[in-house]
Amino acid sequence: MTPLKSDKPTGKANGKVILLGEHAVVHGTPALAVALPGRMIVEAEPMDGPITLEVPDWGLTTDASARDDSGKALRDMIGVLGIRPFDMRLTGRTDLPPRSGLGASAALAAASARAIGEMTRNKYDLDTLFRAVQASERVFHGNPSGLDAAVALGGGVISFSVGNGASPTGAPPPPIVVIHSGQEGKTSNMVARVAARMYSYPEDSAQKLEAIGRLAERGTDAIRVWDLPTLGSLMIENHRYLDWFGVSTPALDRACAVAIGAGALGAKLTGGGGGGCAVALVTLEYREAVCASVKAAGFTVVTS
Ligand code: MEV
Repeated sequence: MTPLKSDKPTGKANGKVILLGEHAVVHGTPALAVALPGRMIVEAEPMDGPITLEVPDWGLTTDASARDDSGKALRDMIGVLGIRPFDMRLTGRTDLPPRSGLGASAALAAASARAIGEMTRNKYDLDTLFRAVQASERVFHGNPSGLDAAVALGGGVISFSVGNGASPTGAPPPPIVVIHSGQEGKTSNMVARVAARMYSYPEDSAQKLEAIGRLAERGTDAIRVWDLPTLGSLMIENHRYLDWFGVSTPALDRACAVAIGAGALGAKLTGGGGGGCAVALVTLEYREAVCASVKAAGFTVVTS
């Protein structure tokens, strides 16, 4: 990530890794996620014209009058914050890859909203920030559960459900390796794919979504007592269900298999799927071996 050396108004937010429960969380069951802390930083400065947003690390440039999704997401987010969409330049710095299941779009919206609050001297409360991030996420994800927004703004290791919001587990972040499959994924397409599967196979789908929710509950209990072997096996089971819903890819399957073959306790795709990242749960003893093996298989380690 390009370092920031300015004293401009700045907002920070987290990326996220879902350990258990993505997709099912959209339909009401719990999920378990861990933050990648402070991985998005946005700074604000005065500039004439519509608010602009740039993320040089992604080659992204948009502004609040643009007709593309990024422009609409920015406008909708600003609408919740209740400010005029003019006279500011926002610049984001990040090492989160976009469209990879790590909550990069929510992190960008959360850090931007915080930078806008600093610049305009508005002390937005958490609920307003959450609604602002959700407004932006709705443009990219269609029907976001709010999990990405909650982790972007909150952090730690949390259990989340649409009905109950975020609950801290109190556990420290577990040792993980995040592996990029080499392809990008579009979450809204994958959410639609799960919905199509639910339409075609309503009973099987309902059972499997419930089962994923139960895995997330058991995983939350396991991480609270630091039972990492159990958490790892729940992740393996969760990946199989996600595969059934059609959101894995051959590259994600292979990344998981390589990580497990090298000693990981468990591995699964993380986030929307259809590309993007897998997460492997490791022990400190096998962390290096897992990183080396996935790299030797042609994958990139995003974080470990
Ligand atoms: C995306 O990071 C996670 C999904 O469950 C969608 C959502 O929760 O909004 C696939």
